[in-house]
Amino acid sequence: MALVDVLPVFGLRLTTPRLMLALPDADQLAALAALAAEGIHDPSVQPFGAEWTDRPAEQIPASVVQHAWMAWSKWQPGTWELGFVVVHDGMVIGTQAISASKFAIRREFGTGSWLGRAYQGRGFGAEMRAAVLAFGFDGLAAQYATTSAYLDNPASQGVSRRLGYEPNGVQRDAIRGTVQHLQHMRLTRERWEQHRTLDVTIEGLDACREWLIGAA
Ligand SMILES: CC(C)(COP(=O)(O)OP(=O)(O)OC[C@H]1O[C@@H](n2cnc3c(N)ncnc32)[C@H](O)[C@@H]1OP(=O)(O)O)[C@@H](O)C(=O)NCCC(=O)NCCS
Repeated sequence: MALVDVLPVFGLRLTTPRLMLALPDADQLAALAALAAEGIHDPSVQPFGAEWTDRPAEQIPASVVQHAWMAWSKWQPGTWELGFVVVHDGMVIGTQAISASKFAIRREFGTGSWLGRAYQGRGFGAEMRAAVLAFGFDGLAAQYATTSAYLDNPASQGVSRRLGYEPNGVQRDAIRGTVQHLQHMRLTRERWEQHRTLDVTIEGLDACREWLIGAA
């Protein structure tokens, strides 16, 4: 029996013109961890509420692997976080996560992502977000997508704006000992349909659709 037979979500694969997204195997997870260790943002800012990139450099790779395993260990039908690796030209270039809680009732999902610095600013962030939006709206018949980014993160805000999200409130977070404003964003199904431009192929969904949706 293979892992995909035990947990069919490991057979999911999303393909866009330049990218492939799937749950990582052990080597891909190690490649993602190595990428994070190289630094994934300007050290003068902290784009993540969990402040995980402020850890000592030698702790970063293990934290990436443990975060993935922790998410896998908590999966329940309808409540999950899928941390896809993003592959371009055979290289792991970053991660795009999609998460849901009691999906059958809420019909809503959230997203989060990062790219290696060499791959930022080339449209990959928008392309990988578009992939999981197609997965959520087309594949799972979601009604809403949400995401959040600090106001000093123009790249993440830019991805959301381009794909049709609208502002959905601001939260005051304590980051590095000062207040940072977290902008929540929300995308309705109607606006996604107006802003979708990309062809996304979804494979492996039939085997896990019911499990991802969960019980109402
Ligand atoms: C956030 C992130 C995933 C975005 O991906 P990306 O590939 O860099 O972004 P894209 O190239 O797809 O750009 C998307 C939009 O943002 C704009 N943008 C990108 N970088 C920008 C910058 N530094 N300043 C202003 N606008 C920017 C682009 O012009 C584009 O807008 P457009 O479609 O109107 O032209 C990536 O930059 C990243 O990993 N950053 C570090 C980690 C992080 O911040 N993660 C998110 C935490 S919420």
